[in-house]
Amino acid sequence: MQERPKRNAISLGVNNKMKAAARGLSCVVVALVLLSAISCARQDATPAQQNPNNWWKNAVIYEIYPRSFQDSNADGIGDLNGITSRLDYLQGLGIDAIWLTPIYPSPQVDFGYDISDYDNIDPQYGTLADFDRLVAEAKKRNIGVIMDLVLNHTSDKHPWFKESASSRTNSKADWYMWRDPKMVDGHREPPNNWLSVFGHSAWQWDPVRQQYYYHRFYIQQPDLNWSNPEVRKAMYDVERFWIQHGAAGFRLDAITALFEDPSDTDEPYVLGPDGKPKINVYGDKEVDSSKTDNLPEVHDVLRELRQVADQTQGHKVVLIGETYLRSVDDLRKMYGPHDDELDLPMDMQVGFPPYGVTLASVDWFRQRINEAETGIGGEMPLFVFDNHDNPRWDRWVTSDHKDDVGRVIATVLFASRDTAMMYYGDEIGMATTPPTRKEDVKDPIGITGWPKQKGRDGERTPMQWNDGADAGFSPAGVKTWLPIPPSYSTINVTSEQNEQDSMLHWYQQIIALKKQDPALHDGAETMLNTGDGHVLSWLRKSDNGEAVVVACNFSDQPQTVSFDLSGQGIHGTNVKTLMKTPGATDPASLGSIQLGAFGVYIGQVQ
Ligand code: NOJ
Repeated sequence: MQERPKRNAISLGVNNKMKAAARGLSCVVVALVLLSAISCARQDATPAQQNPNNWWKNAVIYEIYPRSFQDSNADGIGDLNGITSRLDYLQGLGIDAIWLTPIYPSPQVDFGYDISDYDNIDPQYGTLADFDRLVAEAKKRNIGVIMDLVLNHTSDKHPWFKESASSRTNSKADWYMWRDPKMVDGHREPPNNWLSVFGHSAWQWDPVRQQYYYHRFYIQQPDLNWSNPEVRKAMYDVERFWIQHGAAGFRLDAITALFEDPSDTDEPYVLGPDGKPKINVYGDKEVDSSKTDNLPEVHDVLRELRQVADQTQGHKVVLIGETYLRSVDDLRKMYGPHDDELDLPMDMQVGFPPYGVTLASVDWFRQRINEAETGIGGEMPLFVFDNHDNPRWDRWVTSDHKDDVGRVIATVLFASRDTAMMYYGDEIGMATTPPTRKEDVKDPIGITGWPKQKGRDGERTPMQWNDGADAGFSPAGVKTWLPIPPSYSTINVTSEQNEQDSMLHWYQQIIALKKQDPALHDGAETMLNTGDGHVLSWLRKSDNGEAVVVACNFSDQPQTVSFDLSGQGIHGTNVKTLMKTPGATDPASLGSIQLGAFGVYIGQVQ
């Protein structure tokens, strides 16, 4: 998890319900035409679907936070049968795979990232049979199911940890990171200054073993000792188990954190401009993670995980990494020197940039996207702009143009040469809705860090399906595990299906283009007009010579762009509109394309 960006003031640019009702009929017709065009297009297998080994390339992956997607049994918590019931919707959106955050049995301290049994399903979410049915139903719709594999740590309630903590001599004594205390003036202290990502020392005293154990995350999430071959074997068995149950791949949680420097020495402090250690939101002196993150041994494990995945017959098991890395060079290494590690390390540098980068930083985005396209040795980038750990896309909004900004972000995500990872609710413009009172917070870091750190509840609120009570997430009247944001009355799937210019239709159209248009599917990408300080423009060019220009206005003022593509070997000067933001007119030629505030234009060069 990266340091959380400051939240921007959220202005909910909601649409007026009355207006929508008045336009109802014509919009329904438009929507039906659009949807049938999209579903007709989907009957032809996309290039990736034609090659089962490449299904994940240029694909669209949809992250589901299962607690918050669809409740099928009226307990206020989303579940697997709920997800299965929404597969037709996901198919209509054009999704290739869903990634489920952890659904294994868990005390739910970190909402599933504290696993107490790797080979089963938490009863809150259903059963193994429900999982098998989900996989089978998803497969019928060409949708893969990607599991979240948490390898760095288990729950402290996992039998492995319970045994490990019971003595210094048991058979699992060395499965976790146990250390003797440092004695200072006769007092016991943690072995060093390493910090938990969730605040305070990463070391917890255990009175039975009379030792500390290391936990990079919550105290209830002890780190496994990955230098122990038995731990590795146990986890590779888990990988096999879920492949046998039909998993299309794994998202490897906290994968860069598997190893710690055996010297156990302090990490350097991160200094602020005054030369003193920076203080984080929990009040700790920040350390630089150089001894606890991205150590070289991680690559050995990635290769071993890859070997297990590649033993599968019939379908390619994709390995995705949660990789918050500092440079493109580090990102490139995650693919492995011989393409033998991760398929898709997440590029968190474009979507979650350092504090201070805003949409006004067009040059920054241009440089970063260009690096991602050119600096990873021709591999497939995986762009991500949203997930369950960070404020949603509306963190970019600083003006009244909320939906327009949403379209810009979606365009960068889907019109780039990448595999695109989106987060449930992005497609309808669901915004971050953080708790307003400490007593309502569910995510423990929101309690420890309140009020500076409000936790991650704001990006995990229930999916807004319709404008009925409980937004169609739970049956009306059920108390949902997190409150339904008030915006549900207008920002919801049903209303947006009936509205021509909705965010949902933008997503459906641009995803359909990504899949069907050869240039936008896997065409080469070149940045255009690189001196422009307001508009990010790029060219996609397919092997068969089709060329598409994309222009995104990153400013709140109208802009005009013109393109001369002769330097790219393209001599056409006319352009046929593929997509444009509501209200924009079709340009006469590449010589003058008008963009409104945060306007987008995508056109095929003729
Ligand atoms: C990253 C996950 O995305 C986050 O939600 C979790 O808290 C930590 N890893 C610990 O597993």
